[in-house]
Amino acid sequence: MKKLRKSIIELIKIPKITDDGFLCFAQNPAQIPFPIKRVYYIFEAVPDLTRGKHAHYKNRQVLFCIQGSITMVLDNGRQREEVMLNQPEIGIVLDKMIWHEMHNFKKDTIILVLASRVYEAEDYIRDYNFFLEIIDQ
Ligand code: TYD
Repeated sequence: MKKLRKSIIELIKIPKITDDGFLCFAQNPAQIPFPIKRVYYIFEAVPDLTRGKHAHYKNRQVLFCIQGSITMVLDNGRQREEVMLNQPEIGIVLDKMIWHEMHNFKKDTIILVLASRVYEAEDYIRDYNFFLEIIDQ
């Protein structure tokens, strides 16, 4: 019998208040599984370019596509899965040591990311083969 693998994609649904439009919110610990140290957002991304293509040693993140749509690819070295994000109230968990890529940026897409750590260039793993080498150590 084929063994079922646990998905590496974890989605978080945050509250969406209808109030002359919509208002979504997220805070730790109710929706976000770590204290938030940093926020960044990406907009006017070049449509056909892939972004991300890295993993972090320590940083954990939750990413929201608050406008437009993208395809997220997550890879833990053994499994590679993808999901389309196009709802502002759905976040995807990008845990530490998860290789992630963002594809298919639709025009006018905006990505909002909540991070557990401040920016540290040395926390990035940008070489996929190196990521595969260290993932099982
Ligand atoms: P990067 O994380 O590589 O973007 P992406 O994964 O979306 O392709 O960051 C792009 C550039 O921005 C890189 O030079 C580092 C810089 N940067 C900061 O200085 N601070 C930050 O918090 C982030 C996320 C990026």
